Amino acid sequence: MKASALFRERFGREPDGVWLAPGRANLMGEHTDYNDGFVLPFALGQRVTAAAARQPGRRLTVCSRQEPSDLVEVDLDGLAPGRVTGWAAYPAGVAWALEAAGHRVPGGCLAIDSDLPAGAGLSSSAALECATALALTALGGLDVPRAELVTITRRAENEFAGVPTGIMDQSASLLCRAGHALLLDCRSLESWQVPFDPAAAGAGLLLINTRARHELTDGEYGRRRAECEEAARRLGLSSLRDLTGLADADSLTDPVLRRRVRHVVTDNQRVLEVVALLRAPGGPSADTYREIGRLLTQAHVSLRDDFEVSWPEADAAVEAALAAGAAGARMIGGGFGGSVLALVPAAHQGSGRARDAVTGAFARRGWTAPEFLDAVPSDSARQLSG
Ligand code: GLA
Repeated sequence: MKASALFRERFGREPDGVWLAPGRANLMGEHTDYNDGFVLPFALGQRVTAAAARQPGRRLTVCSRQEPSDLVEVDLDGLAPGRVTGWAAYPAGVAWALEAAGHRVPGGCLAIDSDLPAGAGLSSSAALECATALALTALGGLDVPRAELVTITRRAENEFAGVPTGIMDQSASLLCRAGHALLLDCRSLESWQVPFDPAAAGAGLLLINTRARHELTDGEYGRRRAECEEAARRLGLSSLRDLTGLADADSLTDPVLRRRVRHVVTDNQRVLEVVALLRAPGGPSADTYREIGRLLTQAHVSLRDDFEVSWPEADAAVEAALAAGAAGARMIGGGFGGSVLALVPAAHQGSGRARDAVTGAFARRGWTAPEFLDAVPSDSARQLSG
């Protein structure tokens, strides 16, 4: 358990406990969360772990195996957005958001470790926030319901770290269940566990980290969000969720806004279609997964051509995976870098063929070799020991 080893090394004592929070992949529904729409993420087996213990006074001290030169100490009484920058803004932001919600955070030491690649679009920052939230609430004996932790960790990301994301990533990390995807209505915040076990139907999920790093702070994400808000404003709606079909947007004349709207409307529909397929009587079959694959590829085309958030490595990975027999593939997350999710046949070395094809396609273009990760629908954040 590397986080506790790091804790012992840096703080010279045993942690009181270890908490973990997973990253996520999203099966369907991209850039729909901040439009009050639907998303269908699942938690990954890859996660952030936080070994933690109380310390006297009002200091929070954090270190990370991934940032070995930093030992960041913050005063819990002096926290404000903008005061802490870099990776430590996430744990510090969680302490700030907890206090802002009226929960008294105790002084503490945190040692962080992660097997989630950062910048790969797998929500390593949400995982860091959620692991911190569980650690700090447990150290303080605070009983905060998960739904409230979702809001608190998102606030840390939006207001303290200054990244204008929606609610999907923190919800996935805190609410998902193994063997399920989480259908989340981002307007009502109601959620449902949808059985999702591709292996049982002979399918496999492959994550391809294209190694083009994605940064949500670089402005493009915020621009897309503003475009969606502008489209809703011009249509006289409070959000694009209120569109029931593409015809409702006929009055929009701006071609860019029309494309953005088309993506959001069709991706919301695809979420509901995938859910219907997964819930079909008798459970999903190999045919169901072929159909889900087709929807994945459709979503990629929509993200590439209508929402314009894909990037060359993602397009090449999707193309190569499909040529190697994948049922479908698409970029996931915010875009402009990060990962691709491919649905591959588990039999006949389906994943091996797709890996070889993608690796070959990247090598031919002289790109850094991609990294492959298994995507197994896993449990949400929890305590590991202590
Ligand atoms: C990022 C954000 C999410 C969501 C996705 C796109 O992961 O954190 O809130 O908007 O991009 O679907």
